[in-house]
Amino acid sequence: MRDFLAQPTAAVAGAIEVPGDKSISHRALMLAGVADGTSEVTGFLAGEDCLATLQAMRALGVRIEQPSQTHVVVHGAGLRGLQAAGRALDMGNAGTAMRLFTGLLAAQSFDSALIGDASLMKRPMERVAKPLRLMGASVETEEGHPPVHIRGGQSLQGIDYLMPVASAQVKSALLLAGLYAEGPTSVTSPAVCRDHSERMLQSCGVRLDIQGLRTTLHPPARLVAQALNVPGDFSSAAFFIVAGLLAADPAGLLIRNVGLNPTRTGLLDILRAMGGRIEVERERSSGAEPVADLRVYASALRGISVPPALVPLAIDEFPVLFIAAACAQGTTLVTGAEELRVKESDRIAAVADGFTALGVVHDVLRDGLRIHGRPDAPAFSGGTVDSRGDHRVAMAFAVASLRAAAPLKIRDIANVATSFPGFLQLAASIGLAVAECGS
Ligand code: S3P
Repeated sequence: MRDFLAQPTAAVAGAIEVPGDKSISHRALMLAGVADGTSEVTGFLAGEDCLATLQAMRALGVRIEQPSQTHVVVHGAGLRGLQAAGRALDMGNAGTAMRLFTGLLAAQSFDSALIGDASLMKRPMERVAKPLRLMGASVETEEGHPPVHIRGGQSLQGIDYLMPVASAQVKSALLLAGLYAEGPTSVTSPAVCRDHSERMLQSCGVRLDIQGLRTTLHPPARLVAQALNVPGDFSSAAFFIVAGLLAADPAGLLIRNVGLNPTRTGLLDILRAMGGRIEVERERSSGAEPVADLRVYASALRGISVPPALVPLAIDEFPVLFIAAACAQGTTLVTGAEELRVKESDRIAAVADGFTALGVVHDVLRDGLRIHGRPDAPAFSGGTVDSRGDHRVAMAFAVASLRAAAPLKIRDIANVATSFPGFLQLAASIGLAVAECGS
């Protein structure tokens, strides 16, 4: 097994740029693949999750060149140009790929099967299968989990669907299927969740009506190819935002070119409410997405009750937010976050077990955690934590080394490569002392 060894360090400094956004990179490949014409994608995230999507699009007959790791040229096959893969498509660890492909492939004329790694094979898929069946699709899961078997050749009808959870993956799967449906498809979310699909579909010329939490897609005749520069992934920047708040030198830690789509930046609101000083510089846009540089200053954090409305806007950032909370004065309460239990791991249990191992006082809730922080003494003892193969849990505990009394061993880190290739080098460049070691 591959592990991290993180030595305690006291300060971070410098300027960094994180790799491209995972959500946007998946969507760019899928939409460009069914567009008319050639799309150029720069800033692409060459992490394992998005490479699984790239391989799947190739298997479906789309010609894709990759002149460099982060530069992808997609020769669109057109809306009706995909072809049967002839084998099960392996999504690896990528829930986004599996859920979005379920929507896209449900509308094709051929059969498809989707599989993944041990973690993905345990994740819930009925949340997309059920509404797709309402559209007339034939989608089967195995007791709710992958493999997902899709029978092609069904004619889909638009539906008006109220999602039981605020899930951008479900919303996106339905919008992708809706591209092929008869009549408009409306999806209403119970709360705001990321809107990259809507922005990119509109850039491709698809007509959407967006009214509050309800999005209606009108099936287009074609999608227009695009030139897209993918911004840095806010969810990857999150580890360094917290590192900067815990230990930046007086000049602050600079993180350049970070995607600041407001449906993704709940962590900024939460950390600022905790007393964090994070400044936004050089605000600009990259295509349909807002981008800026972030300067993060060492800050004395205070515990808060996180407003449940912010949970979907920070859904991938809770592992590292929990680390920040362990270093804050007082108590931090997170509720309404039961979705964390069905991510790449059960993130509530994974972090809580790590906290038990490292002496952090906490209470596990059904839908969150209550954390009693220690701002003065090292918040974490040394010891061993198990990331449960979850990339974000592994990277969050690497950040904890800034407030640890002794080295941390973080087990099972191979999946860091799913979202953040080059994490160790970037972490080292600002002064974190994290290295890989075998167990
Ligand atoms: C994602 C949506 C979120 C998020 C995931 C990426 C997306 O999942 O956790 O990492 O790209 O649409 P849910 O839709 O399950 O909330």
